Amino acid sequence: MDKYAVIGNPVAHSRSPAIHEAFARATGQRLTYERLLAPLDAFIATVESFAASGGMGLNVTVPFKLQAFALARTRSPRAEEAGAVNTLKRVNGGWFGDNTDGPGIVRDITRNLGVALAARHILVLGAGGAARGIMGSVLAEGPRSLTISNRTFAKADAIARAFAPRGPVAALSPEALAGRSFDIVINATSAGLADPSPPPWPAAIMASGAFAYDMIYADAPTAFRAWAKANGATRTADGLGMLIEQAAESFFLWRGVRPDTAPIFTLLRPPGRG
Ligand code: ATR
Repeated sequence: MDKYAVIGNPVAHSRSPAIHEAFARATGQRLTYERLLAPLDAFIATVESFAASGGMGLNVTVPFKLQAFALARTRSPRAEEAGAVNTLKRVNGGWFGDNTDGPGIVRDITRNLGVALAARHILVLGAGGAARGIMGSVLAEGPRSLTISNRTFAKADAIARAFAPRGPVAALSPEALAGRSFDIVINATSAGLADPSPPPWPAAIMASGAFAYDMIYADAPTAFRAWAKANGATRTADGLGMLIEQAAESFFLWRGVRPDTAPIFTLLRPPGRG
C-alpha cells in the first residue's frame, strides 16, 4: 500500500492520521498514513529514510515547514510565495513541495463558516511561518485591507513588504493598533493555552460584529477565542476546519481525488462547533 505520514516535533497529538484515513476510506484509496516524529536536528534524515521505505507523501508541521521548503526540489507557486512547505509529494525520485494552509483557511472561513473575506478589514496577528503561509490566499479574496501585527514588528513589516504588490497590506506594531478595529481577526501566533503572558494587542480591535479565527485547534475553546469573545467578537472559530481543509487539498495533490470534508467534521467534532 502507498505510504504517507505527518512529520513534526511534537506530532503525537496530530489529528492528520484520522483525517487522511477517513478520506481514504471514503474515496476507496488504498494507503497507510502514520505519525513520524523527527528529532529536531534530523528532519532530512527522517524524510530520507521514509522515502527509502517507500514513502510517497508527507504533511509537514511545526517546526519543519522551512526545512521542507529547502528540501523540495520543485515547488508550487503558492509554496514559493509562502516561503514554507506543508505538503511534500514524491516525484521522479525527489520531493515536490506545496503549501495548502492558505487554501485551507480560506475555504474553512468562507465556505464552511460562511464568512466573506472580500471587502472586509482583516487583521492577522503573528508574523511567523503560519502567518506568511496564509497571506497570499487571504489577499486573493479581495479584502478592503489586510493588516499584519506582531510583537516583533520587523517580522510583520518584512511580510507586509513582500506581499504589498499583491494588495492593500500594511504592518502595524501592537501599540499602533490602538484606535483601530477590524471585521475579521486571525490569530496566527503560536501562543497557546499554556502561555501565561497576556496578549500584547489592544482590547478594542474587534469591530462590532467581528469574527475571530484561531489557527490553533483544541478541544476546549482556545485562549485566543476566549479573549476575542471577552473583547467584543460575536463569532469565533478554531483551526480544526483549516486543518481538515488543508488535509483535503494535500490528499488531492497526492491522489488526484478531492475528498468531501463534511463527514470529517462530524467525526472529529460532533455538531455544535464554533
Ligand atoms: P509558526 O511557524 O507557527 O508561525 P513561528 O515562526 O515560531 O511559528 O512564529 C510564532 C509567532 O507567534 C511569532 O509571530 C511570534 O511573535 P514574535 O515574532 O514576536 O516571536 C508569535 N508569538 C509567540 N508567542 C506569542 C505571545 N505570547 N504573544 C504574542 N505573539 C506570540
